[in-house]
Amino acid sequence: MKLLKEKILNEGVALSDTVLKVDHFLNHQIDPVLMMEIGKAFKERFASEKITKILTLESSGIAPSVMAGLEFGVPVVFARKRKSLTLSEGLLTADVHSYTKQETNTIAVADKFLSSQDSVLIIDDFLANGEAAHALVDIVRQADADTAGIGIVIEKSFQPGGEKLRSAGHRVESLARISSLSDGEIEFLSEVKA
Ligand code: G4P
Ligand code: NA
Ligand code: NA
Repeated sequence: MKLLKEKILNEGVALSDTVLKVDHFLNHQIDPVLMMEIGKAFKERFASEKITKILTLESSGIAPSVMAGLEFGVPVVFARKRKSLTLSEGLLTADVHSYTKQETNTIAVADKFLSSQDSVLIIDDFLANGEAAHALVDIVRQADADTAGIGIVIEKSFQPGGEKLRSAGHRVESLARISSLSDGEIEFLSEVKA
């Protein structure tokens, strides 16, 4: 996606060999025009699928997901990361292990928002090790719903998440695929010459 790549090159910062900072338009300040284009891009990529619901994870997955939801004309559900004392029944839960933080967190979705009739598009801002996407797939499975696909804004192709999800049979569509962040340089997968 051209506009996204330009944004990443102009406003993104390779913080290290593995971490890309994009808080100017995605993770803190949000660019609404870019989000609208991202929503349209997801609609194009998954145009052949009959999507009934979008599932994401708070917080940074919400903005692109809402714009995609608008395009598909379906509701958007976000998994919660924080436990709620009042909402402990009727929850579908899954664990997400963070390699960077070396901790495991439980995410939760109220079961009333997913049914066996649903064909779900999972969306997230980043794909690194694939732990978050894997947990969302598990929640869809628990609801007896189908995962129609996984839409990612920025995939870090040098980390194993994309490979893991694709070899598990999932259709993963990433709007930008980064092949390297080495030496402060941001490189995209399509630009890598064999
Ligand atoms: P890991 O697989 O590499 O260990 O990453 P981890 O699951 O620990 O992800 C922790 C958070 O960092 C996630 O957001 C994830 O989306 C995000 N993340 C992963 N790689 C990058 C990156 O290169 N750049 C940026 N900016 N974020 C990255 P989160 O904690 O769920 O936060 P949020 O959704 O509220 O933003
Ligand atoms: Na996220
Ligand atoms: Na994030």
